[in-house]
Amino acid sequence: MKKLITLGLILLAAPVSLFASGAGLHLDKADIDLSNTASLQRGFKYFTNYCYGCHSIGLTRYSRIGEDLGIPKEVLKSEVVFARDEKGEPVKVGSYMKTAMSKSYGDEAFGKAPPDLSVTARARGADWIYTYLRSFYLDPSRPLGVNNTAFDNVGMPHVLWELQGWQILKKGDEHGEAHGGADELVLVSPGTVPPVQYDQIVRDITNFLTYLAEPVREKRLQTGVFVMLFLFIFFVAAYFLKKEYWKDVH
Ligand code: HEC
Repeated sequence: MKKLITLGLILLAAPVSLFASGAGLHLDKADIDLSNTASLQRGFKYFTNYCYGCHSIGLTRYSRIGEDLGIPKEVLKSEVVFARDEKGEPVKVGSYMKTAMSKSYGDEAFGKAPPDLSVTARARGADWIYTYLRSFYLDPSRPLGVNNTAFDNVGMPHVLWELQGWQILKKGDEHGEAHGGADELVLVSPGTVPPVQYDQIVRDITNFLTYLAEPVREKRLQTGVFVMLFLFIFFVAAYFLKKEYWKDVH
């Protein structure tokens, strides 16, 4: 029985991403910082420019993101909220962020409609998303001409190709023994930004998607610290109170 409980506790403690990420895949460290508001704002901007045409983040309202990331309503209205409702009216800043692409169109165009990314960071983990967005490579055998080392036979095009450029996959056995036999992504046609800057862009997007999957995380951490502090002070007070009460008994 004891063993069973221990096993249960271990399983509970294991992060979900342990199970979600593909076996044997090397993940690069995303190194994100949820308290870096500037990075989150940039990530939000990249998301609306490069991802929102296909992916919803339908559990969140524009206004909520605006409040959390310190973006004024006027800026949201003029720079971000371009979607229209069924009547052709611009949607309100209080609406949920649903992409304009219909599921049936997505299914037809990509084989599988682009999924809602609201909680993807929780299911896949930040490191996986960071690795995924840097791991597209040219593969003429695929319908869109690209594949991905983190997501085999992926249906998504390499939407950030202008920034990153194009990579090819060099199989480990082509290098021979000297290279240790590992597969390697090689940039064959540079994009508009150098690789270090591309990594930062992807980091910002990953940071934003991680915030999105758990928007109250930062607040919860602060509350946690506050509660611990309170418990500590309470403990000290209780200790002296106990001493005072028992003084006469001994
Ligand atoms: C042209 C449409 C399109 C755009 C634009 C696009 N995606 Fe995708 N994305 C897809 C499709 C289609 C899939 C599903 C792939 C599959 O299942 O084979 C997908 C899958 C994903 C997944 C994997 C989800 C999962 O858990 O399986 C992530 C993460 C993702 N996209 C992130 C992004 C990000 C970040 C951007 C913006 C930089 C972006 N996508 C832009 C079409 C798109």
